[in-house]
Amino acid sequence: MSIISWIRTFPLVQFFLGWAQELIMAIIKTGPVPQHVAFVMDGNRRFARRQKLEVREGHSAGFESLAHILEMCYQVGIKVVTVYAFSIENFKRPAVEVDAIMEIARTKLLQLIHHGDIADRYGVSVRVLGQRSLIPPDVLQAVDQSTDMTKNNERAILNVCFPYTSRNDIATAMQLTITDVVDKGMDPNDIDEKMLEQHMLTKDSPPLDMLVRTSGVERLSDFMLWQAHQDCSIEFVDCLWPEFEPWRFSWMLLKWGRKKSIEKQRREMEAERKEI
Ligand code: FPP
Ligand code: MG
Repeated sequence: MSIISWIRTFPLVQFFLGWAQELIMAIIKTGPVPQHVAFVMDGNRRFARRQKLEVREGHSAGFESLAHILEMCYQVGIKVVTVYAFSIENFKRPAVEVDAIMEIARTKLLQLIHHGDIADRYGVSVRVLGQRSLIPPDVLQAVDQSTDMTKNNERAILNVCFPYTSRNDIATAMQLTITDVVDKGMDPNDIDEKMLEQHMLTKDSPPLDMLVRTSGVERLSDFMLWQAHQDCSIEFVDCLWPEFEPWRFSWMLLKWGRKKSIEKQRREMEAERKEI
């Protein structure tokens, strides 16, 4: 155990950190807050290796980290959280690891919808976005149960991308759009961004405001390629996902809120100048 982790075991220190986190969240809520945030939860296996844990335990630690971040997101008023839980490419990993992630997904999806857990407390509708046909039957049952049981929740959304890649999402959206165009006898030249967007898996979510990737790797890995447009802040952070604590995310939210406030002020000043 590191010295910092040891200090954190003291109840007084825990009380102070909890109080500080509440204070920071209150400050965040006073400014603009992103509506839609996405996470690439990278670094679970490196975390396991460093801590001399099994790979499965690294992914479990990754889910615990996600649970803390989700609590914070919904508490500060973020409406939609989208997470990269499993890439279609991840099927190329050793079978034992794929099975472990599937089992974590199955149990944790059911845990999220327990009475008193995150979906219930924050009114979250859970949606699983990706290739259904690639999900094993027992996991699919948990997927359907979690989405069905929360479908009437309207305060927030959790998009679990599983198994997902952006290029697959874009290709499927193209197929659906073209089928629509042919069925309705429309001109193919009428296909535009809006039409494609209406057939994408994130069609029910607001535009993506912020994309966060942990572990120091600076690439998108086929995630939110369409959604990470010019108004989306992309944040690369060099800690591993299981070590991504709410205070790190708080800092990103404060920075985002400040940037948005400055932009708004600038727009207002320009509008005033035009009026004069
Ligand atoms: C990336 O780290 C992480 C994953 C491929 C799996 C993440 C899945 C979870 C945390 C479970 C989510 C479950 C629900 C229900 C939302 P990595 O394996 O690429 O680690 P590395 O970069 O160190 O190799
Ligand atoms: Mg990785």
